[in-house]
Amino acid sequence: IDSTNAYAMSIIKKREAGEGTVILADFQTGGRGQKGNVWESQKGMNLTFSVILFPEFLEAGKQFYLLMSTSLGMIDLLKQAGIKAMIKWPNDICVSGKKISGILIENSLKGAYISSSIVGIGLNVNQTHYVTPGIMPTSVKLETGREMNCDILFSETLRHLTIWIRKLYRNEWPAIREKYLQHLWQYHKWSDYADSTGSFRGRITDILEGGELVIEKQNGIYEKYLFKEIEYGS
Ligand code: BTN
Repeated sequence: IDSTNAYAMSIIKKREAGEGTVILADFQTGGRGQKGNVWESQKGMNLTFSVILFPEFLEAGKQFYLLMSTSLGMIDLLKQAGIKAMIKWPNDICVSGKKISGILIENSLKGAYISSSIVGIGLNVNQTHYVTPGIMPTSVKLETGREMNCDILFSETLRHLTIWIRKLYRNEWPAIREKYLQHLWQYHKWSDYADSTGSFRGRITDILEGGELVIEKQNGIYEKYLFKEIEYGS
């Protein structure tokens, strides 16, 4: 198929999807990443899948919690595989600055609430060479030196995601937020950033309910940023 997210959307529209339906592809001809990028994944080498949810209780203003829960499921899965990963805000899963997993969540809204969510996840497993320019990828194999069985890893991934998505469904907001902050890359560390005014040094001090990143600049001013409004320095 072209993209598990696109396929998920088509079956939601046809009302053929139930809560927790998972679409898993061996290969996507049009795998989609954030910001309109393509998601590179060699046939049979990695996990590319989408989970369909209908979290109708979730206010649109709290949709970032679904992203946090998903990221934490991936962090726990990688920990089990012996990999210490961090979350690069908002939802890149990285090991020593290299991206091992990407998440693309597409929500549909009904009024002030979510009606359906497509949680698309790509996890680099056994691929060791990447051709897309401008990305610094890594994979489970590159990090551990071991080839992994994708089927076993997939069921473990779903197990860890279920644990965190259950916490979301039980409204365990503080547990999700705290663990996300614990695994947030560069949290409280002075680092280089760039926004529309240019480069600056700053440190991440908080994440707001809507997912905005709060950064304290060196001049003592706090700024909040939405996705795409800020870039990380090298
Ligand atoms: C990112 O750019 O970091 C997000 C990548 C998300 C890729 C996954 S692979 C499975 C699902 N289907 C898609 O087309 N994209 C997501």
